[in-house]
Amino acid sequence: MNLIVLGGTRFLGRHFVEAALARGHAVTIFTRGRIAVPWMGGVRHLVGDRDPATAPGLAALADGSWDAAIDCSGYVPRCVRASAQMLAGHAGRYLFVSSMSAYAEPVVARSDESEPVATLDDPASEDVTAHYGALKAACEREVVAAFGAERATIIRPGLIVGPHDSTDRFGYWVARFAAPALLGDRGEEIVVPAPPERPIQFIDARDLAVWMVVLVERRMAGVYNACSEAGQWTMGDLVDALMDSAQRRGRVPRPVWIDEAALLAAGVAPWTGLPLWIPGNDPAMAGFLEIGCRRAHRAGLALRPLAATVADTLQWLLARDNAGAWQKALTAREERSLVAGR
Ligand SMILES: NC(=O)c1ccc[n+]([C@@H]2O[C@H](COP(=O)([O-])OP(=O)(O)OC[C@H]3O[C@@H](n4cnc5c(N)ncnc54)[C@H](OP(=O)(O)O)[C@@H]3O)[C@@H](O)[C@H]2O)c1
Repeated sequence: MNLIVLGGTRFLGRHFVEAALARGHAVTIFTRGRIAVPWMGGVRHLVGDRDPATAPGLAALADGSWDAAIDCSGYVPRCVRASAQMLAGHAGRYLFVSSMSAYAEPVVARSDESEPVATLDDPASEDVTAHYGALKAACEREVVAAFGAERATIIRPGLIVGPHDSTDRFGYWVARFAAPALLGDRGEEIVVPAPPERPIQFIDARDLAVWMVVLVERRMAGVYNACSEAGQWTMGDLVDALMDSAQRRGRVPRPVWIDEAALLAAGVAPWTGLPLWIPGNDPAMAGFLEIGCRRAHRAGLALRPLAATVADTLQWLLARDNAGAWQKALTAREERSLVAGR
């Protein structure tokens, strides 16, 4: 197949390009060229801007012809409308990377793709920080409007993890257990959010990427939650995998399970202070790490072992420049104070 990727050079898009090349497809990417293109050859690079109001806009897409467009960089409905309308006559299918954040609150545990999505109070808003999920839902509608339901594929990933993830979330845990020096002067006692049996959910970008290629190869339409299956992993499972990884490096860290009431009282920020932690008493978001993904798994989404994601993320963290990372995570001082006060 001949594929056009809107984006493709940072994280998920980059893994998609590699998965598509490995399966023998021809790949063109469309970016502003701010992030260096990681491939020396083999990938065609079109330069432009998703925003049609920012020259040269989408002009570079006007002459191509592709079997499918894969949108990894759409956040604003006006921009997604522009690319979807432009590509409707140039591409056979449009796969849009949305997000589980598109769901309306309260997010219901074990729910499926039929749940209502978030809406914008102000449909003209383009404030992605404030309305990320509702904007993603509006982008989805633009894709379906331009391509029709049969030629539109919408995926809603949960937390995407693995090498090249610069968001400092899953990587915090890997560093904290297996390479704590990356986080500064840290003790062997590690604050983890109780209870260990709380379900958590994420997906290795490489598994997601291969499956996205399969979706376009098989011309699969529709909406798919895309993550580990609800309840497949718990915080305890993650800590076990992290302990194994640490022990392979000769470390014997001690996880200290802290009740979430104590974490909240100490001012620890859910999700950012301790990544992957959403308090069980949060009425709006408690179900967020337990969303049903049966449809995707039935459609071929397959996950590598958790240990492999931890190991490869660690190798990537050890090789990258970590200056400026983990600014929002629990500090060493806060962590020592929580351990001392348990
Ligand atoms: N990370 C998560 O946990 C998570 C969870 C759910 C969903 N998602 C979604 O997953 C998707 C993947 O994001 P990613 O960053 O990994 O994708 P990516 O395709 O690897 O990187 C983003 C690409 O978009 C390009 N880009 C950014 N702004 C642009 C613009 N105005 N015009 C043209 N190109 C532009 C960037 O290159 P230049 O800067 O050089 O232009 C870069 O190539 C996103 O849609 C995100 O919402 C992420």
